[in-house]
Amino acid sequence: MIRCRFCGKRAVEVLKQYRLSLCRDCYVKFYERQVERAVKRYKIVKSGEKVLACVSGGKDSSAMLAVMKSLSETADFKLEAMFIDLGIRDYSEMSLNVVEKLCEKLDVNLNVVRLSDYGIRLENINTKRKKCSACGTAKRYLMNRFARENGFDCVATGHTSDDILAFFFKNWLSGNFSWSAKFLPRTEGFDKMVTKVRPLYLSSEKENMLYCVCRSVPFLNENCPYAPSKDVWKDIIYDIERKKPGFKRCFVMNLVKYLKSKTHTGSNGESYRYCRLCGEITTSDICAFCRLKQRNTPVK
Ligand code: AMP
Ligand code: FES
Ligand code: ZN
Repeated sequence: MIRCRFCGKRAVEVLKQYRLSLCRDCYVKFYERQVERAVKRYKIVKSGEKVLACVSGGKDSSAMLAVMKSLSETADFKLEAMFIDLGIRDYSEMSLNVVEKLCEKLDVNLNVVRLSDYGIRLENINTKRKKCSACGTAKRYLMNRFARENGFDCVATGHTSDDILAFFFKNWLSGNFSWSAKFLPRTEGFDKMVTKVRPLYLSSEKENMLYCVCRSVPFLNENCPYAPSKDVWKDIIYDIERKKPGFKRCFVMNLVKYLKSKTHTGSNGESYRYCRLCGEITTSDICAFCRLKQRNTPVK
């Protein structure tokens, strides 16, 4: 039997990159300390801020809400949750059930926003790829608008080191270098854009899953039916991590150093204007969300 390095009880996991075996309780403490350190190191959340944690019901954002709730008990920030009901039949219903259970368990106020209230139905969009991209546009728009209109200082998402690395490789290889602000643990807001924070920037999907299991955090272990079946980049990243434990964490930490050594403007240097229809920030005449609305048949 492998024993926990800290208390000697039966270990549930061997964390190769840290050369640590930990039991359930010690893992929960270890994980929370790691996230707390990242939050402090990168000043992800500032004193007195009101944070809107966006939760899909999956393991990563559920872990994010649970760990942020624990941190909020000793740190000086306020926390509420938001779920966007995308109207993806069984999947959205199951996700909402899980998020309701999670928020009740954690005693966090839950805000629910429905895409159908804006007259958009993803099922009216033809291909899986187009649905998924429309969904991304809608989520980003609604998170930002809801947070701003309801007095939140920042929007927190459950993006992980795996996500950051996968985005990085995809963008880098397609020669798209205007992405940098999206890969930082905290992207300051400007004008109508609310600050975006990523508390799990240094955590991996595997660590989040283990935290949910060890702390009995409710989450939905199912993929969205419209999601692309496989992310090759994630497979490649896992492969490297298997051969070089600690690769992901080290990579994203150095990515921050590199990006911070370059100067940024909040808007990432791009010029922007206001959507002619809804007034939100956009780079064209009508924003992507309003174009989506125009293409969609209204809900009957
Ligand atoms: P995704 O774009 O699906 O990879 O999700 C990225 C992040 O967006 C998640 O970690 C969540 O924080 C947030 N998110 C995704 N889907 C939803 C949803 N339906 N409601 C609220 N937040 C969401
Ligand atoms: Fe958006 Fe699946 S969650 S398309
Ligand atoms: Zn608009």
